[in-house]
Amino acid sequence: MEKHTVIAIDGPAGSGKSTVAKLIAGRLNFVYIDTGAMYRALTLKAMREKIDLEDAAALTELARATKIDLAHDAGLKVFLDGEDVTGLIRTPELTNNVKHVAGVAGVRSEMVKLQQAIGRRRSSVLEGRDIGTVVFPDAQYKFYLDAHIEERTKRRHKELLESGMHVTLDAMKQDIETRDTSDIERKVGALKKAEDAVVVDTTHLTIDEVVEKLLSHIRP
Ligand code: DC
Repeated sequence: MEKHTVIAIDGPAGSGKSTVAKLIAGRLNFVYIDTGAMYRALTLKAMREKIDLEDAAALTELARATKIDLAHDAGLKVFLDGEDVTGLIRTPELTNNVKHVAGVAGVRSEMVKLQQAIGRRRSSVLEGRDIGTVVFPDAQYKFYLDAHIEERTKRRHKELLESGMHVTLDAMKQDIETRDTSDIERKVGALKKAEDAVVVDTTHLTIDEVVEKLLSHIRP
């Protein structure tokens, strides 16, 4: 089998992962895989079906019975059992609920299998929390992006405002801190820097500067 290149980008919310991963995938003609969108889509289904978010067995069952696809057509689109849910998975309510779904080992093993299958088909840029540690520990390139909490809050706040949602800066900061804690303290697939990852602090860098920095490691 032809060996494809995998670029793993991990880091907390607002570190710039998604924007940078998308641009790098575009520059290298790789597939961009937003693994957070997959956990979000499954959370949407759990909420719609009114599944108890504390019920790990029910969430695992749900993950096994759900088809999630990512399509690249004028931007990334997320499909949940064939339905385009791209515009429905970034509400603050859903964002707060993802931690329950993403904390379930059975859910994660289903998602990881799916991510590995996509990443093995073509050269890919995957971004998430556990890509370099769990999904592709043997990825050729691993990056860990981070930024100061105040800067991450500002970025996420701006994104939400641009998509027409309103939330105060304080509420946003609290939300990100809660998410950081659950991402870091989760027993499975926790947010963690892979030992061999290149760490980039994006606090004072523009998007282009981050992209160029990462590309300089990929194409030395
Ligand atoms: O990257 P994001 O903000 O869209 O991620 C949404 C949520 O999914 C976030 O709370 C952490 C979780 N997540 C995860 O547990 N593992 C991943 N590989 C990606 C995201």
